[in-house]
Amino acid sequence: MKAVRLLGAALLLLLAACRASVSFAAPQTMVAAAHPLAVEAGLEVLRRGGSAVDAAIAVQMVLGVVEPQASGIGGGGFLLHYDAGTQAITVYDGRETAPAGATPSMFLDTEGKPLGFREAIASGISVGVPGLLAMLELAHKERGKLAWSDLFVPAIAVARDGFAIPPRLAAWLARISSLREEPAIRTLYYNADGSPKKLGERIANPELAETMRLIAEQGPRAFYQGAMAAEMVERVQRHRRPGTLSVTDLADYRPIKREAVCGPYRVWKICSMPPPSSGGIAILQILGLLEPFEIWHDKPTDLRAIHLIAEASRLAFADRDRYVGDPAFVDVPVAGMLSPVYLSERRKLMSPDRSMGKVSPGVPPGYVERGTSHISIVDRWGNAVSFTTTIEAPFGAQIMVRGVLLNNELTDFSPRPELNGKPVANRVQPGKRPRSSMSPTFVLDRDGKLVAALGSAGGSRIIGDTLQATIGLLDWNLSPQAALALPRVLNLNGATELEEGTAVPAQADALRALGHEVQVRPHEGGLSAIRRTAEGWEGAADPRRDGVAKGE
Ligand code: GLY
Repeated sequence: MKAVRLLGAALLLLLAACRASVSFAAPQTMVAAAHPLAVEAGLEVLRRGGSAVDAAIAVQMVLGVVEPQASGIGGGGFLLHYDAGTQAITVYDGRETAPAGATPSMFLDTEGKPLGFREAIASGISVGVPGLLAMLELAHKERGKLAWSDLFVPAIAVARDGFAIPPRLAAWLARISSLREEPAIRTLYYNADGSPKKLGERIANPELAETMRLIAEQGPRAFYQGAMAAEMVERVQRHRRPGTLSVTDLADYRPIKREAVCGPYRVWKICSMPPPSSGGIAILQILGLLEPFEIWHDKPTDLRAIHLIAEASRLAFADRDRYVGDPAFVDVPVAGMLSPVYLSERRKLMSPDRSMGKVSPGVPPGYVERGTSHISIVDRWGNAVSFTTTIEAPFGAQIMVRGVLLNNELTDFSPRPELNGKPVANRVQPGKRPRSSMSPTFVLDRDGKLVAALGSAGGSRIIGDTLQATIGLLDWNLSPQAALALPRVLNLNGATELEEGTAVPAQADALRALGHEVQVRPHEGGLSAIRRTAEGWEGAADPRRDGVAKGE
């Protein structure tokens, strides 16, 4: 009997050992993005010895096919790279630029009023010079290990052979009726009777497959010069609301390398995207404003935490709207906006018992008067990429050239060049990059070691999404999946937004009693995140969308 018990115990131990080595081995690489086919393409690149940047390019190309509404080579993006050897962070800015022919009043009608938002989006005016491919080429030259052309193989196969329409794409096709007006979009995504193709139906994009084949073989010059460039220019200039994009604008586009904007939060260092994005500064301001309130003692759905996050966000958005624009055109007082003295002055406006309501911007020291998708990757060396990529509104400008959707990024400029007689920092100017909210972010520990990589889609709500996921990971010690699923609380210096269908609307009346205007609304999200564990990495993609995280 004793021998049988011993044998049973030995078998159990063996089973446990097998499980530990097979299914519980901690992933040493990780890819998190908005579609499983894109994640698989990234993992395959990492398996073959590719770097995080190589994987990011493969992931992006597949996303351009299966999540065409969010990002693609007709758009732009910001890519942050973390080098595990040197602990250096490199920022690659592939933001679109305004064409040389752009004017500060181009988003105004004949009476000087801003065009309707939908009218401005679906137009030639909104198309900025795409920056994505030029930026990815630069990052690949500096950080790539596999051949450029290899990185396009999975995306070309998906575009040629087809894929099942995922839920988000199906939802957008049903929602945006004007998409049918663009013949190439109509042919690809709609039936002959004008009804949208349905969730799960198989579609292909052979024109995009051919476009990517040319770019894989010839490099980005196949896009920025020659026949493809001429075709983009023609489509934009002959649109019923024409823009000024020219072949010179395309040939002249250059990506920019920048310094990350970094700041402390408790025991961590947070590094994110500097201007022309407002995201990094806003996230650091909000965390700096919140720190003395020690919200890690509250639960995520507690009134106090919701109220304080909304109030700090309000202050950050007031400054963002006033000061942030392309640093080549505007002096953004970054250091002043993040200085502890300035933040402690601004914090005096915050009370745990009362909302401040709509707030005016502060005067930071140093100030002188004058749609989107996120990809997070860690490779076998521990290098990481945090990459937010966009064509702006879902389906961008709703102009498709050779299977590529052109961005409407220029609607991220302020439509009005002046406010109260003063020039607006984010007004349109030729060659300028529109202010962004994209916030690809890294969290580092005191030794400079990577703790987490994260970011989000969602226009100006990117800032609140990335902020809340950061707070979830750091203050509430949640897993990436739980941090991304947190009910969303946002404030863009107006109403406090509470995510519909979650636990936070239960606080609506209590917030109103504190003086908040409250809106309960659905939230699109779009986060992805990766966090270090004791043994390896864990990742997550926003449960509100179609993405996944997978490691090996
Ligand atoms: N177009 C989204 C952003 O840059 O914020």
